[in-house]
Amino acid sequence: MQERLQELKQEALQKVEVALDLKQLNEVRVAYLGKKGPITEVLRGMGTLSAEERPIMGALANEVREAISTAIQEKQDILEKEAVAKKLASETIDVTLPGRPVKVGGAHPLTKVIEEIEDLFIGMGYTIAEGPEVERDYYNFEALNLPKGHPARDMQDSFYITDEILLRTHTSPVQARTMEKHEGKGPVKIICPGKVYRRDNDDATHSHQFTQIEGLVVDKNIRMSDLKGTLEVFAKKMFGDEREIRLRPSFFPFTEPSVEVDVSCGMCGGNGCSICKGTGWIEILGAGMVHPNVLEMAGFDSKVYTGFAFGMGPERIAMLKYGIDDIRHFYTNDVRFLQQFKQVK
Ligand code: DAH
Repeated sequence: MQERLQELKQEALQKVEVALDLKQLNEVRVAYLGKKGPITEVLRGMGTLSAEERPIMGALANEVREAISTAIQEKQDILEKEAVAKKLASETIDVTLPGRPVKVGGAHPLTKVIEEIEDLFIGMGYTIAEGPEVERDYYNFEALNLPKGHPARDMQDSFYITDEILLRTHTSPVQARTMEKHEGKGPVKIICPGKVYRRDNDDATHSHQFTQIEGLVVDKNIRMSDLKGTLEVFAKKMFGDEREIRLRPSFFPFTEPSVEVDVSCGMCGGNGCSICKGTGWIEILGAGMVHPNVLEMAGFDSKVYTGFAFGMGPERIAMLKYGIDDIRHFYTNDVRFLQQFKQVK
């Protein structure tokens, strides 16, 4: 029996020695010290021993158990430390590794141009007015001197929702709405940026949805020269001090007289090239003196008040400013296009 115990001790210590991980070690513990293990088995046979032998065997068995248990504990400590060391090693952070660059977005080129135009006019004392994109026929057309059946309505193919409600075809209805709110008292000095909609087929220069900025000044003694001076400041600030503007007679139902405004070509300096189609000038916006009917319909006395208005397309301004050849670039949001404007002020 004594030999058997010594054998078991050797065997167990050997297995503890070679155990590779905590799982294997636990298997050794269960196998040798567990209730069904060989040492318990040996102890069960103690009944057959003499009274003198029994305490000796008992002490030996305890010593064997103790030795195995201590060895397991020591090995367990070692394995646990190893496991911690391994985990720490695997989680080491190399602080010298270069970081991954964070991709930062930028404002959309159209947003930038709109904000630039807004800032410019705010600097001249204008405030920003907004109106609904889903608009009443009255404000979109009638209040702007475009009664039902007026041929100029054809210029603006519209998305109608009902007979009386449509997606606004221009930002001019904000003029009418703002004047109405002023209840016949000036001054009114606003610009109205926003989205507009037309039933156009999309191509390089047309889009079914685009943006416009409307301008309106109403006060006593507002003259055509005020309009011209304002637009000259705008064109020079937007495109460069060397640029000139010219006004050409035109027609809009809501202004009288009406003009189309051109800026001198930045490519050829006015001599004529392919960009300006040989004319030296590029059209940038429509404008005019607010039609007396429009003033009257909005509650202003047209004998006391006069005003000027203008309407421009920020897409067109941005295309001219940055040499963009297709309006669809603004809406498809290809990052390769957008990223070029990140640094642009
Ligand atoms: N609403 C016009 C358009 O969409 C643009 C315009 C022209 C606005 C002349 C005006 C203006 O205020 O005076 O084509």
